[in-house]
Amino acid sequence: MTITPEFIEKLRDRISLSSIIGKRVKLTKRGNRFIGLCPFHNEKTPSFNVNDDEGFFYCFGCGASGDVINYVRETSGLSFVESVQELADIAGIPMPELRPQDSAKKERNVTLLSCFETATEFFQKSLKLDQSRKALNYLIQRGLTESIIEEFRLGYAPRVGLHQYLQNKGYVEEVSKLAGLISISERDGKKYDYFRERVIFPIENRKGQVIAFGARAMGDSKPKYLNSPESPSFSKKAVLYGWPQARERVKRNLPLLLVEGYMDVISVTASKKAAALAPLGTALTEEQISLAWKLHDEPILCFDGDVAGRNAANRAIERILPILEPGKTVRIATLPDGSDPDDVLRHQGADGLMHIIDSASSLLDATWSGKANSHDLVQPEQRALFWQEIRKLVRTIAHNQMRVAFGDEIERRIQKMRDMTRRNEALLAYNFNSGLHVNARRPRTGSIRRTQILLGLLISFPQIAIDKFDVLSTLEFGDLDCEKLKNHLFDILFRESDLDEKEVRQHLYDLGYKKTLRQIDEMLSDSSLNNQKVGIELDEAKLKVDEIISLSLAPRRR
Ligand code: UTP
Ligand code: MN
Repeated sequence: MTITPEFIEKLRDRISLSSIIGKRVKLTKRGNRFIGLCPFHNEKTPSFNVNDDEGFFYCFGCGASGDVINYVRETSGLSFVESVQELADIAGIPMPELRPQDSAKKERNVTLLSCFETATEFFQKSLKLDQSRKALNYLIQRGLTESIIEEFRLGYAPRVGLHQYLQNKGYVEEVSKLAGLISISERDGKKYDYFRERVIFPIENRKGQVIAFGARAMGDSKPKYLNSPESPSFSKKAVLYGWPQARERVKRNLPLLLVEGYMDVISVTASKKAAALAPLGTALTEEQISLAWKLHDEPILCFDGDVAGRNAANRAIERILPILEPGKTVRIATLPDGSDPDDVLRHQGADGLMHIIDSASSLLDATWSGKANSHDLVQPEQRALFWQEIRKLVRTIAHNQMRVAFGDEIERRIQKMRDMTRRNEALLAYNFNSGLHVNARRPRTGSIRRTQILLGLLISFPQIAIDKFDVLSTLEFGDLDCEKLKNHLFDILFRESDLDEKEVRQHLYDLGYKKTLRQIDEMLSDSSLNNQKVGIELDEAKLKVDEIISLSLAPRRR
C-alpha cells in the first residue's frame, strides 16, 4: 500500500469536509462549524456537526464520527482505496500509486520475480537431465533425498542454456541482467550465464517466492559458493535462507537453529529434529535476528568450537543484547572443532545434533563465559577488568526491564565469585599462619580407588565441590592425574559456578581428560554406591565425600 499518512493529510487539507457533506446534507453555519440532519440516522432536529477546521464530523444523536474519508466510505460503500481515489479526483491530486515511476517499479518487481521463478524451473529441469548426472550424484552423495531436493527446489546450472531459455520465455535482457542471471563480458561484450556448472539453491522470501540464488561449485573451482548480486528484490542482509521450510517445522514445535550454510539448513531440516535458517555468507545482522524471532522465541545459534567460532559467537551476542525484548532470546550452541551441523549429522547422526541442541547455553551463560574465558580470573586486575566489561555489555541492553533482569543476575554471579575468592584467600592465609612449608606433607586422599571415587562424586555433583572447596583444596589427591584434574575442576567451577554435571564433563573432556574420566566412571560404577537404575543420590554422595575427607584428614599411622 503506497497511500501514506502524509497523502491523507494532504487530501484533508485540500478538501473542505463541508463541501463534500454539503452535496447531500443541507448544512447551516453555526459559529465555526456547520450543523444539519444526520445522514447516518433518522432525526427531525439537527444534531450532526461538521467542523471544517478540524476536518471532523460528529453526531450527538447516534455518535457517528470521522473524517472526510470515513464519510465517503460510509455513505458510498466504496473501499478505503476507492474512497481515497474519489477524493483525490475531486481535489485534482494524482494518486500516489498511479505515479508513473511507482507503477513501473511495481511492474518491474513482478517481472523480476517471475524471471527468478522461470530460472528456478530451468535449473530444476536441468538437474533431471542425463547430462547433469554428476550434479544429481553430487547431491545424493551428500546424503540428500529426492523429496528434500524437491522441497528446497534444488537445481543445476549447466554451462550454457539459461540465457536462451529466458529469451524464449520472453524476458528482455534488461530483466535477466537486473536479476543478475546473465553478465556481459568486459573483454568482448559477449553475454554469458552468471551461474555455470553449479548446484543451485534458490533463495526464497517469506512468501516462498524465489528472490535470488546461491550456487555451489562441485569441484574445486572458486569461489565455492556464488550468490546472486543484490537486486531490487534481494538484499542479502535482510534475508535468511530456508524461511518457508523452517516455518513448516517450527509450526510442528521443532526447535529452530541458526546455522552458517545452505547445506546445514538442508541437512538439519532433513534430520527432522529441528528447523534451520542461515544468513547468506555474512555474520548475522540485527534484521536477521528479528526475522528469526518472528518464527521462534528462542532460536539456537550454532557456532564452531574453534577460536573463529568463539569470536563469531561473541560478536553475535553483542549484536543481540541491545535488541533483546521480554520473551525473546537466543541460546548458543557450540559445535565440535571445525565441523558444521551438516558434518555432525553425517558423522554422529541425529543423536549428535540432539546433543548439541541439548547442551546449548542460555544467552546469559554465554555472555558470562564468553567474557570470563578471555581473562585470567586468578589475577585481581583481570577480575576487575572482567567485571567492568561484562557490566558494560549488560548496559547495552536497550529494553529497561531486560537490562535490569540481566544486570541483577550478573551482579549475583559477581558476588558469588567474590565470595569464592575470599574463601580462597582465607585458606591461603590459614596455611601461611599455621606455618606449613610449601613442601610440607599435606593430607592425602589415599588409595587411587578412593581418590577416583571422590573425584567422580565431585564431577557428578559440582555443588558439593563448591561447598567443600576449602577443605578439598588442602587435600593432596593420591594420583597425579587426579590431582591435575581436581585443579582443573576447580578452575572451571571458579569461572562458571553454575555448571551442571554435563557441562563440567564437557569442559574436562575438552581439556583432554577423556581417559581419566573413563577410569573414574568405571571406578564409580563398580563402587557399592552406584545403583544401576537410579545412579547416585545427592545425599548419599555428600555422605561419601565427607567420609573420604575425614579418612584423608585422619592422622596417618606410620
Ligand atoms: P562454508 O565454507 O563453511 O561451507 O560456508 P559449507 O556451508 O560448509 O559448505 P559445504 O558443506 O562445503 O557445501 C558457509 C556459508 O558461507 C557462504 C555460503 O552461504 C556458505 O553456505 N559462502 C561460503 C559464500 O558465500 N561463498 C563462499 O565462497 C563460501
Ligand atoms: Mn559444510
